[in-house]
Amino acid sequence: MTDRVLGIDVGGSGIKGNVVDVTRGRLLADRHEIPTPRPATPEQVAAAVAQMAAWFGWEGPVGCTLPAVVRGGVACSAANIDSAWIGTDAEALLAAATGLPTTVVNDADAAGVAEVTHGAARGRGGVVLVLTFGTGIGSALFTDGVLVPNTELGHLELDGHAPVEDWAAARVREERRLGWEEWASRVNRVLEHLVRLFSPELIVIGGGVSRRWDRFGPYLEAETEIVPAAFGNQAGIVGAAMAARG
Ligand code: BGC
Repeated sequence: MTDRVLGIDVGGSGIKGNVVDVTRGRLLADRHEIPTPRPATPEQVAAAVAQMAAWFGWEGPVGCTLPAVVRGGVACSAANIDSAWIGTDAEALLAAATGLPTTVVNDADAAGVAEVTHGAARGRGGVVLVLTFGTGIGSALFTDGVLVPNTELGHLELDGHAPVEDWAAARVREERRLGWEEWASRVNRVLEHLVRLFSPELIVIGGGVSRRWDRFGPYLEAETEIVPAAFGNQAGIVGAAMAARG
């Protein structure tokens, strides 16, 4: 079985791809990024994913994420992509568009699997929570390295904010021009709530904003250990590829 898989991470604003050595958790090429089509309908995103595979001249298996609940390859929700995704067999659609065997999983679950297997939470047992802060807030919950898929904790209601991602995602910091400390205080409120619910031993903070850890990390506080994602915003690509490997 091949170690090399094309990982593609479909986000609210960009679609990122790279070739991944899934055994070692290494990125093997230069990352390629294209804007997420608007509207992000299944057909438009499928065309962009096919374009990505063609850009890499890819002929092998493909692992792809979606910012949606994904069960058995079927998208079951659509918060930051077009609602036409709901009920779409994403795996069949993307396999047809690329002509390649394609596996589809939730974006935060993919990022989490990468961090737990090869990154910041490697070797950590107990309850681990990986959160991604970007257009939304994604979540991946693990117990002794085993994922509970599709937790969607960014869709919780907190202090009247429903969903809480519309108040505390990294997108909100940019749109509302919040200072790092002010935004971090919102993140802290989310962390406090999630610690109360799940008592994780470790929280990994990922998503695009994690590359600015030096700006907001010092303001984060929770009654548990908090670390930045080792793969930063590339965790979704790595985890997508790992999902295709099975
Ligand atoms: C979606 C999740 C996704 C998260 C991060 C949320 O709006 O519902 O499925 O993981 O955004 O992209």
